[in-house]
Amino acid sequence: MWRIKSLDAILATAEKKSLHRSLGPFQLTMLGIGAVIGTGIFVLTATAAQKAGPGMMVSFMIAGAVCAVAALCYSELASMVPVAGSAYTYSYAVMGELVAWLVGWALILEYALGASAVAVGWSGHIVGLFDAMGVHIPHALTVGPKVVIGSFLEGGEVGGLVNLPAVIITVLVTILLIIGTKESATVNSVLVAIKVAALTLFIVLTIPMITGHMDHFTPFTPRGWGNPLGSSGTGVLGAAASIFFAYVGFDAVSTAAEETKNPQRNVPIGLIGSLLICTLFYLLAAGGAIGAFGAQPLMGPNGAYDPGSPEFSAACTAIGAHTPLVCSKEALAYVLRETGHPFFGNILALAATIALPSVVLLMMYGQTRIFFVMARDGLLPPVLSTVHPKFKTPWIITLVTGIVVATFAAFLPVGQLADYSNSGTLFAFAAVSLGVMILRFTDPSRVRPFRTPFLFVVVPASIIGCAVLFMSLDGKSKGLFVTWTAIGLVFYFCYGFWKSNVRLGIDENEPLVEGPGGTPL
Ligand code: ALA
Repeated sequence: MWRIKSLDAILATAEKKSLHRSLGPFQLTMLGIGAVIGTGIFVLTATAAQKAGPGMMVSFMIAGAVCAVAALCYSELASMVPVAGSAYTYSYAVMGELVAWLVGWALILEYALGASAVAVGWSGHIVGLFDAMGVHIPHALTVGPKVVIGSFLEGGEVGGLVNLPAVIITVLVTILLIIGTKESATVNSVLVAIKVAALTLFIVLTIPMITGHMDHFTPFTPRGWGNPLGSSGTGVLGAAASIFFAYVGFDAVSTAAEETKNPQRNVPIGLIGSLLICTLFYLLAAGGAIGAFGAQPLMGPNGAYDPGSPEFSAACTAIGAHTPLVCSKEALAYVLRETGHPFFGNILALAATIALPSVVLLMMYGQTRIFFVMARDGLLPPVLSTVHPKFKTPWIITLVTGIVVATFAAFLPVGQLADYSNSGTLFAFAAVSLGVMILRFTDPSRVRPFRTPFLFVVVPASIIGCAVLFMSLDGKSKGLFVTWTAIGLVFYFCYGFWKSNVRLGIDENEPLVEGPGGTPL
């Protein structure tokens, strides 16, 4: 189980389909922003406020900083091993099959549940838009039911049944992926412009309202700084662990390393550039929301509620109209509507409705690629990597992914989904960071198109940062991660361990199975 897939074998696969190096720093930054801005800022601002109050501004900074160091590590491996499957592939080459399997297994949480979270975020906006037009979708069809499964799956609302809009968008995206849609650079640029314009609009309208409302910033940390050793997942660190979701997606830049001109210079510019721009927008948007409307947590008889819990949603419902920010399912649009800008609130909701499906698409696409590579390596049943004769896409994997994403989106609240997704991402990032350090010692002479700067500072900072954020997640998310990993181990030792191509000596360079293809959107 410690067998590795040699880097040379991986690179031989990559070289056969090497891509034209055409991307410059600007396109890379756009790619990063396009993949990053999404449900995190538009929706999870409410969850972060419930966990940390105005202190969520610090949470945004902490999550951004952890992402920045993780991104620098990610890029070194991405530029060395520029093939599909990202963190999973890097781990296979460096730390062996078992670690790779665990990383790939964790990435299912990142991508599949991440896509579910964004689909639920989309649902909140479309429902709000319909409401604004006077069309009221029955509440039971907009949220999942109150469910409690063991100690780690809990959510939904009393009176909820299924989040139908989230299911519908997932089905549509699944169909697009099966017929082979990939997002083109042009579509990405348009969507980036829409998202940036929407956030700019929000900031321009809300920041002037801060003066005169400085009292909204006190108490600044009503729920303290958080305790990574506890299970409540609250406080500034708990909010940082959740809002980390708002930064996920930058790996789109790392995986484009093989299409980049002068990657040593341009990949870090693209990564750090997009993360800096997003952090700046997020801080201003969070500050604007706090100043204009206030972001104190909703308190119950036993202290502040757990966001996403049935008790929390019941308390929000009891307030009726004009709830606090923390109750909203479309935080930024809601702030504008409630502060005298209903028209612009709807414009912002419209922008999110247009832009969020592409984030769902990118995440589901990432998921299908990882499944595909794992199946190609023999660790998952080969039937999964069946390519559709007409569309040339891995349709079975895509269908399975669609069903998983839709099921979770149908029943769970956005904040919980984002936390589950983060647990997988943080694990994968920590593993990749460790891999960078190991490979510097075991294979020092290999060409590294991009080298992580200040290795002995950046790698430990990334591993410790990911570990602290992981521990700051709530008990349910940590519990889900442990359970998921245990299931993964059972699966590996019953299947992948025996069927692995590396174990059986099968060289998949010969014949080369094509990766998922596609036509631009
Ligand atoms: N960062 C992406 C979002 O916030 C995943 O939607």
